[in-house]
Amino acid sequence: EEAGAARPFGQRLLVVANRLPVSAVRRGEDSWSLDISAGGLVSALLGVKQFEARWIGWAGVNVPDEIGQKALTKALAEKRCIPVFLDEEIVHQYYNGYCNNILWPLFHYLGLPQEDRLATTRSFQSQFAAYKKANQMFADVVNAHYEEGDVVWCHDYHLMYLPECLKKYNTKMKVGWFLHTPFPSSEIHRTLPSRYELLRSVLAADLVGFHTYDYARHFVSACTRILGLEGTPEGVEDQGKLTRVAAFPIGIDSDRFIRALELPQVQEHIKELKERFSGRKVMLGVDRLDMIKGIPQKLLAFEKFLEENPYWRDKVVLLQIAVPTRTDVPEYQKLTSQVHEIVGRINGRFGTLTAVPIHHLDCSLDFHALCALYAVTDVALVTSLRDGMNLVSYEFVACQEAKKGVLVLSEFAGAAQSLGAGAVLVNPWNITEVAASIGQALNMPAEEREKRHCHNFHHVTEHTAQEWAETFVSELNDTVVEAQLRSSK
Ligand code: G6P
Repeated sequence: EEAGAARPFGQRLLVVANRLPVSAVRRGEDSWSLDISAGGLVSALLGVKQFEARWIGWAGVNVPDEIGQKALTKALAEKRCIPVFLDEEIVHQYYNGYCNNILWPLFHYLGLPQEDRLATTRSFQSQFAAYKKANQMFADVVNAHYEEGDVVWCHDYHLMYLPECLKKYNTKMKVGWFLHTPFPSSEIHRTLPSRYELLRSVLAADLVGFHTYDYARHFVSACTRILGLEGTPEGVEDQGKLTRVAAFPIGIDSDRFIRALELPQVQEHIKELKERFSGRKVMLGVDRLDMIKGIPQKLLAFEKFLEENPYWRDKVVLLQIAVPTRTDVPEYQKLTSQVHEIVGRINGRFGTLTAVPIHHLDCSLDFHALCALYAVTDVALVTSLRDGMNLVSYEFVACQEAKKGVLVLSEFAGAAQSLGAGAVLVNPWNITEVAASIGQALNMPAEEREKRHCHNFHHVTEHTAQEWAETFVSELNDTVVEAQLRSSK
């Protein structure tokens, strides 16, 4: 499947994200093999049918030589992808540093890293400089490919400096920016040393989007309190210029999951899993191995549940898929060992010669294996400490038409606002409450499960990724009209 395969009659959409939706492996001096990778953002944008999308981003690999760069650019062009080449030092300072060690934890309410608080401001400043430089490199590539009439859609916290860079090139360029993480309370944002510049740059966009109304509200508060600008119901106004700010909750391509369940190989896989875990209820966690996902807290809650409910010890299994991510960032390395330690302890305490309570996998699963796993699950545990939306909860629901299992969902995931009525909502920090919710979910009568599932299934299949993207882009197009109306007044 190509990322944004040919779309007749479509408007050109330049989708700019830190990471291209491909994984690239070098096979020789001038040869590459490419695989479309399906993360949250990627599967969402694959659902956009009526635009002719071009993707601009980093291919996730270091390509220092010109031959390699040329060959990769050529291979990517067939997938409608355009690379931004970042060298190792920039990746270290911009991606590992400023993006994943500063903005990511801050936006998820984990605060600024201790080291940077205590150290001289040098490391912070050099990381911010690299961030700006990387954003400028993205802007250069966008600008080189831009044609009049294109819309440019920038994604996520990696590219907050991009809207301003783009508008400096061309004020007429239609620029939207969407944040896939939470936008924190303005009190949290205030602690960021580069708080002014980032807000200012985002405001250069014509449309700024968030997953939930709360995030949008936090952003507008940050602009009013930190920049002293005026917040209006439409967005933020600065000297007569309006930046539209609104909520656009993302969805998934639910049909893709539903269709996959019918495939013979997925059916076969489902049968195997059912046999493998027969006589036991299956609980499932699927998370990137990230501190925001609350994996240690989830494991501790499961341990508490087993402690308090001896009856369930040999009747339930927790499958935890923990996808390695950002492995060069020390915080993530620490988390990996912490998780392994807890899993080992729990399996040591409650395992028997023939069975262990937790199957923990440090890997990603292919799409079909994941669908099968979702389908056989009785209880999904999505217990993020903070999460922009969390599409695992959506994917699980899409695969549960037969089983009608229970979703235990953190109230701090954006998804709690859309699936809250169907899910069992928990505060992931409260281990006792999560343990009790596990019991509630495992014991839930069929009728109640069905009612809750129907509510969620309806939402997930109605509010798809495609609808999300269409709404965002059509609003972005409307800002053109608004701006013209204003200038003709
Ligand atoms: C989150 C972010 C995405 C990012 C993804 C994977 O969902 O919002 O922008 O692509 O995590 O993280 P990575 O650092 O591997 O791109």
